[in-house]
Amino acid sequence: MRRATPGLRHLSITLVLMACSAPSFATTLTVTDPAGQPLATVMVRERPADGPQLDTSDNGYPAPGVARTVAPEVTRFSDAIGRVEFAERDASREYLVRKPGYQDLAIKPEVETRELSVTLVPETDPVRLAEAKPASAWLGALDLGDRDTKLHFQTQCTFCHQQGNSFIRMERTPEAWGDIIHRMQRYGARLSSQDQRALPERLSAGYRKLRENPQLLADPLPWSPALTGITITEWPLGDIFSQVHDMLVAANGLVYVADNIQDRLYEVDPRTNQVTVYRIPHREGERNGGLLAARLRNFPKHDSTSNAHSLAESRVDGHIFITPSAQRRLVEFDPATKTFTLHEMDEGFYPHTICVDQKDRVVYRRAVEPGRDVRSHDETLSRCTTCRHAASASGSNVATHRRVPGADELGVPLGQLVAGGSTGYRYAAALRHRHHARTGKVWFARLHTDEIS
Ligand code: HEC
Repeated sequence: MRRATPGLRHLSITLVLMACSAPSFATTLTVTDPAGQPLATVMVRERPADGPQLDTSDNGYPAPGVARTVAPEVTRFSDAIGRVEFAERDASREYLVRKPGYQDLAIKPEVETRELSVTLVPETDPVRLAEAKPASAWLGALDLGDRDTKLHFQTQCTFCHQQGNSFIRMERTPEAWGDIIHRMQRYGARLSSQDQRALPERLSAGYRKLRENPQLLADPLPWSPALTGITITEWPLGDIFSQVHDMLVAANGLVYVADNIQDRLYEVDPRTNQVTVYRIPHREGERNGGLLAARLRNFPKHDSTSNAHSLAESRVDGHIFITPSAQRRLVEFDPATKTFTLHEMDEGFYPHTICVDQKDRVVYRRAVEPGRDVRSHDETLSRCTTCRHAASASGSNVATHRRVPGADELGVPLGQLVAGGSTGYRYAAALRHRHHARTGKVWFARLHTDEIS
């Protein structure tokens, strides 16, 4: 999201002044209600009328190493007089118009049309009004028996994705819920064994009760008028099987995005809308899923022996370091030559969050460390001082710790058995750590807990 900075405001004034002498090619939408009154804070999304038209020649993904210009989706909100403006366009675009309490509208104007007036019709159907409410309204009203069960469910089932959205709350049998919960446990949820048994029935009945009684849902907060003036730009990357996991805005102005389950690194230039994809290399003979092969066993499509997890950039040479959580290594990407170097570790497991400190040391954390609790954090942070200069991938340069016994063979170290009241993995797991520029200290948090170090 970009807020108009004083500099940008100045720029838009300049553009308006220029428009006085030359015709304006911007597209302006004016949104009113059926009585002709202007509607403020209406969300309008502009996108290519024919879809993103991405290259899918590489198993559904763009061919690697080729820069392509993509058409981003741009979202803005109407002002107090119901107006919203988009930049000049030279291709056919679709506009999606939305405001809570009104019916959605989609229009595809002629390419040359610059002034559009649209009317939103109030929605009166209680079911449709409920369907338009955010996932949190559904989750909030969902009855799972008692407060503690609900809290445990919220802690374990909302840290990867929402609960309560239209895909989640649809009609499912308890058996279907049981299968899903089993799969989610394999991905990393730690719902207690007792709740794994009890919740399929309650989820099935609980969501049905809400669908049939939409008056049980609370009204969400209205959209803030402060949204006017904000622009959201979205660049299409990957497909529905992608899992965009971490990203960074590099010093060179490019944005790097890692696809966790398709082993790809996207390079996005937000100024030109050019996107290039690179495949993170594998070693000969590595299995799909890497050391966590069992985890995504029945996931329909994944192309990942390494699971690109987190990114960090060196301020010295702009190289990007990636933790591949399904391998025992670090990946280094050189944005100048567009080449990757793999640095092996001889021990340790699940390289997780990562940063590069002021002395240009790559500091990363291994999420899964058996037998260590929160007090041993310093020991489990690895300082990879020389790996970045290694001529060949050599584990000896990487400080590491004990590996998870049998992890390779089992494919997954996380059991399905979880005692009630468990707050986290048996293994210490950091969610994120960040290097503090002034003090030189590294801050990090532990997954599933409320602690930072
Ligand atoms: C570690 C991340 C993670 C956690 C934690 C997680 N999910 Fe998921 N969930 C996913 C992913 C990835 C998908 C999409 C792939 C799939 O369906 O297997 C998904 C999909 C789903 C779906 C749609 C499945 C379908 O077949 O339509 C439901 C429902 C769901 N999750 C419920 C849950 C519940 C309930 C929990 C808590 C027990 C949970 N999730 C915890 C990652 C997670």
